[in-house]
Amino acid sequence: MGVLDGQVVVFTGAGAGIGRSVVTRYLAEGACVVAVDISESVTELRAEFGETVIPVVADVATWEGNVAAAKVAFDTWGRIDLFVGNAGITDNARPLEEISGAHLANAFHELFGVNVLAPMLGVRACLDALIESKGGVILTGSFASTNAAGGGALYTASKHAIHGLVRQLAYELAPDVRVNGVAPGVAPTRLRGTESLGQEMADSVLEGTVNMLPTQEIAPVSAYDGLFTMLASRTDSVAMTGTMVTADSGLSIRGIARPGGRVGHR
Ligand SMILES: NC(=O)c1ccc[n+]([C@@H]2O[C@H](COP(=O)([O-])OP(=O)(O)OC[C@H]3O[C@@H](n4cnc5c(N)ncnc54)[C@H](O)[C@@H]3O)[C@@H](O)[C@H]2O)c1
Repeated sequence: MGVLDGQVVVFTGAGAGIGRSVVTRYLAEGACVVAVDISESVTELRAEFGETVIPVVADVATWEGNVAAAKVAFDTWGRIDLFVGNAGITDNARPLEEISGAHLANAFHELFGVNVLAPMLGVRACLDALIESKGGVILTGSFASTNAAGGGALYTASKHAIHGLVRQLAYELAPDVRVNGVAPGVAPTRLRGTESLGQEMADSVLEGTVNMLPTQEIAPVSAYDGLFTMLASRTDSVAMTGTMVTADSGLSIRGIARPGGRVGHR
């Protein structure tokens, strides 16, 4: 018996990083998953886990991509219990003054298309089925959902928007659909950059980051599996909606003189 036995999940950004790790956990917990990613790497999940996962290669910034994913889930399993909007791209912490005015609109539309519009499209595409199943939504926010300097102006604004979206959708969809978010701090992944800024993939963990963290360690990508599982559970988080669960290795409580009071004591 798994915690998610019988649940049908549509999950974006499933091809790598945090998403791939959470999908692996969801499958182990008994869920059936439509795993969506713009990267072909997502198709590897089928070979690894068999027929309880259906990879869909699609751009989640498009309505068509989200409809295709929702349709596959509904046509195959006849229901959708959970939509997870996790796909994201970064601006590599590029300050506003280092983006030319002429490039700003394109960069905004590209980054907000993936980080903000896509989860709205995904929820909308799955909505009738989610209301029918009395299901849930989980969106991936960030330390940057409530703090400055977790990215550049574009990324930070987009992740603050996710915080607002979680709260607004939790209100709009109550009492039928619970909506929550997970806000990681630093995970060892390689996020895609914003192409219209000429950016490629880059390491999310920068040199010296580990020393900034009160926990003094970079948690593995699997560190978020349990939180996403708890929020998906129909028993373990029934009283939660409109909540961002922070998992930032203590970043938001770090000190001025030292990241943590006992850092350097051992
Ligand atoms: N890594 C970190 O330090 C960190 C910290 C806070 C929040 N996050 C958030 O976690 C989420 C997952 O990121 P990650 O760190 O695992 O990075 P990742 O790059 O490993 O995973 C993101 C996935 O989204 C996919 N994707 C990007 N654009 C897409 C599109 N248009 N359509 C479909 N799929 C698309 C990518 O191909 C990738 O597989 C993101 O929302 C990110 O902003 C990451």
